[in-house]
Amino acid sequence: MLPNIDLTSTQAYKYLTDHYIDIVAKSLKELFEADSERFEKFSLQFEDILLDYSKNRIDDETIALLIQLARECGLNEAIEAMFSGKKINVTEGRPVLHIALRNRSNTPILVDGKDVMPDVNRVLQQMKDFSEKIISGTWKGYTGKAITDVVNIGIGGSDLGPVMVTEALKPYKNHLNLHFVSNVDATHIVETLKEVDPETTLFLIASKTFTTQETMANAHSARDWFIKAGGKQEDVAKHFAALSTNSKGVSEFGIDTANMFEFWDWVGGRYSLWSAIGLSIVLSVGYDNFIELLDGAHAMDEHFKTAPIEQNLPAILALVGIWHNNFFEAETQAILPYDQYMHRFAAYFQQGDMESNGKHVDRNGKHVDYQTGPVIWGEPGTNGQHAFYQLIHQGTKLIPCDFIAPAQSHNPLGEHHQMLLSNFFAQTEALMNGKTEEVVIDELKKAGKNEEEIAQIAPFKVFEGNRPTNSILVKKITPRVFGSLIAMYEHKIFTQGIIWDIYSFDQWGVELGKQLAGKILPELKDDADVTSHDSSTNGLINQYKSWR
Ligand code: F6P
Repeated sequence: MLPNIDLTSTQAYKYLTDHYIDIVAKSLKELFEADSERFEKFSLQFEDILLDYSKNRIDDETIALLIQLARECGLNEAIEAMFSGKKINVTEGRPVLHIALRNRSNTPILVDGKDVMPDVNRVLQQMKDFSEKIISGTWKGYTGKAITDVVNIGIGGSDLGPVMVTEALKPYKNHLNLHFVSNVDATHIVETLKEVDPETTLFLIASKTFTTQETMANAHSARDWFIKAGGKQEDVAKHFAALSTNSKGVSEFGIDTANMFEFWDWVGGRYSLWSAIGLSIVLSVGYDNFIELLDGAHAMDEHFKTAPIEQNLPAILALVGIWHNNFFEAETQAILPYDQYMHRFAAYFQQGDMESNGKHVDRNGKHVDYQTGPVIWGEPGTNGQHAFYQLIHQGTKLIPCDFIAPAQSHNPLGEHHQMLLSNFFAQTEALMNGKTEEVVIDELKKAGKNEEEIAQIAPFKVFEGNRPTNSILVKKITPRVFGSLIAMYEHKIFTQGIIWDIYSFDQWGVELGKQLAGKILPELKDDADVTSHDSSTNGLINQYKSWR
């Protein structure tokens, strides 16, 4: 079904291994000096998104070989397989169709011979009708008051996407107050419940499986709080809705299935913000803006499906990432949005990327002997500059960075945006060019330092440069642009998973910890000493018992 090729056995990989030796000997500065067309050559534009990947250690040959690698690894066939609903999530026996959730062209997409689009459109209509009632205040709580607060209870993909998007699209927000509870640490639900009134609060229980321990514990505590505050069992229907694939679990919890917003097992948790899981987004910014978000993602889907690899933003982003990961042996990838509203973007793609491509077994079931997914991390600029950029500039590790910024701010206040953007441009330039010893010495001389002082301090002030960055400049963070941006990263992850020959849409790695926690929980119920584990785990559990 999916092409099944070991990338290290391809012709392109062999050529790239030799080519790496040539490139590593050249600096980015030299590459720019040697080619005045570099920006035009190594930048791409899609609608209002500009991707400049010229500040990476690549030349024409690198890109040609990486494209050959993608072809040899069957990227085009894999894209076709995903978009046509093939069961490419083999270990779970499911298709991968988040693209259907935003298939605004409405062309049929068949799963087991059945078009999924009528169901997708039905749930969208249900989300529209429901959100309009809540936002307009025609939906009343149990004492006849309109809803003022919405609490989304979910974790992982049932939390991170809605939080990230509602934060990023805050300029489009209406009067409803949005809250997100994810952690099983009671502090999260307790502190949130202090801020809301049971008479005017709507809880969205967001869980694909409706079995996730954290979400179920928080949902039960929220319902208990609601009943204790005076709500009756029959009032639950006015204050609780479920976003799930599991109708049995939803009705067992006591939520009327009329208040259930359905999605399907072909939607991966970390790709689910486009589904009913996005209801909190709809409630926050309104249905029309949610549709704009879907439109933007759909436009990027079409681009990914049809553009040749050399003009394909997600594919190029993925290939440059593979160049760093598999040849330069970079362990991590930073995502640095210069946009305060996007402050959860890196956290969102931490799950998106690491849960997808954090795999060490290839599609044959064999241990890989090459690197797969990198560690994803990041914070908004300019805050990060005053925290961890030191290591990016002068540390011993190579950290490829994606810088993301909007040209237009939603808050054009004085010179703030120019300052922000001047930092964005300066950082990528500094990371590329660095600062030579010559320049440092000259600066110190001008500052009046003597020879001895200069010799002492100069080495610490030198920047090697040659640090790779992508710059993603967008016109403005509108719902449409944002939808395209998220989809671009999703398809980057897909492309890399294909080339690494791994399954990107399962997540068996999160199961073991869950299983063991299930075994330990009953052991914590009494005060008896525990001896069933290793000495460290026994010691920790027993100390906990003596201190609680
Ligand atoms: O533990 C991992 C995970 O399965 C994620 O993939 C998922 O997004 C999250 O848990 C939440 O799952 P659910 O939506 O079923 O509650």
